[in-house]
Amino acid sequence: MPNENSYEVALQKSNAIREGLTKTPEKFTMLTGDRPTGRLHLGHYFGTLKGRVELQNMGAKTNVLIADYQVITDRDTTEHIQDNVYNMVMDYLACGIDPDKTMIYAHSAVPAANQLMLPFLSLVSEAELARNPTVKAEMEASGHELTGLLLTYPVHQACDILFCKGNVVPVGRDQLPHIELTRTIARRFNNRYGKVFPEVDALLSETPLLPGLDGRKMSKSYGNAINISMTAEETAKRIKKSQTDSERMITFDPENRPGVSGLLSTAAICTGRSEVEIAEEIGIGGSGQLKKYVTEAVNEYFAPIRERRQRYENDLDYVKDVLHEGNRRANEIAEQTLAEVQDAMGMVY
Ligand code: TRP
Repeated sequence: MPNENSYEVALQKSNAIREGLTKTPEKFTMLTGDRPTGRLHLGHYFGTLKGRVELQNMGAKTNVLIADYQVITDRDTTEHIQDNVYNMVMDYLACGIDPDKTMIYAHSAVPAANQLMLPFLSLVSEAELARNPTVKAEMEASGHELTGLLLTYPVHQACDILFCKGNVVPVGRDQLPHIELTRTIARRFNNRYGKVFPEVDALLSETPLLPGLDGRKMSKSYGNAINISMTAEETAKRIKKSQTDSERMITFDPENRPGVSGLLSTAAICTGRSEVEIAEEIGIGGSGQLKKYVTEAVNEYFAPIRERRQRYENDLDYVKDVLHEGNRRANEIAEQTLAEVQDAMGMVY
């Protein structure tokens, strides 16, 4: 029998969820979120935001978390956090997340959800935490020491998912260890104290990861990302500055021509065409023509999203109201779940 925590089994379960969603969307509670460390970019949009909006519109219960406490897992400052959080709400709204359907809230505003951390920490061993490959990779990438929070944030993520009894978490492959841990915690809690929490499964993204403009992983720190919030001019500038190579003929070859191929992938995802088709069309036109094509493709796709975003930028009061209302609803749910937890544990006085 294949291991429950293998990629193959995760993929099978993910496919089953996809099918279930079309028939009985109301049975699914999705929870996902982002760290407010900067603006969301095209990788976020095509990798997860678009999918969240689809789940929302299919009728699943959808919850989106602004993971402000995760910001301090691998950095020593909360500089710009308020601005980042408000801008994240603007990105969400602009991309089609509807606050009447989707609960948008922030970690720090929901004390009862954070309190689940205490019983949950008692359900995992140090060794289990220490072998999480994603935590290790994040520690190495950030150059930060392994703080207590960095070591235990996957448990905190279990609190995020379980406080609202989430059973679907859309993730990339790197987040699978966290889903496993959440499942382990839910099971151990249920076995020890009585059933409170559901089984959680990952919904794996179907679109391949969009690389940055230079072909590397899209990341703010590489300067290779186009943010949703950029203007058309800023987008053009960023694309113009991106590195290609000296070969004039445009071909799709991610291995040997990362810059040209990163641009082609960006154009492909925005137009729904294939990279090879676009490359053949531009051919001898060279990277100048390619960049012009990519700029137009991105700006055309994001024009309506950016137009909406601008309205929210000019109405910060509305943005704050959305977050307050999401926080209020999250608190209601968290207090209910915490009461069930304390009741199961006999901590009722
Ligand atoms: N770890 C996610 C990120 O790095 C954010 C996040 C926090 C999350 N809690 C979550 C994602 C729970 C899914 C489920 O952006």
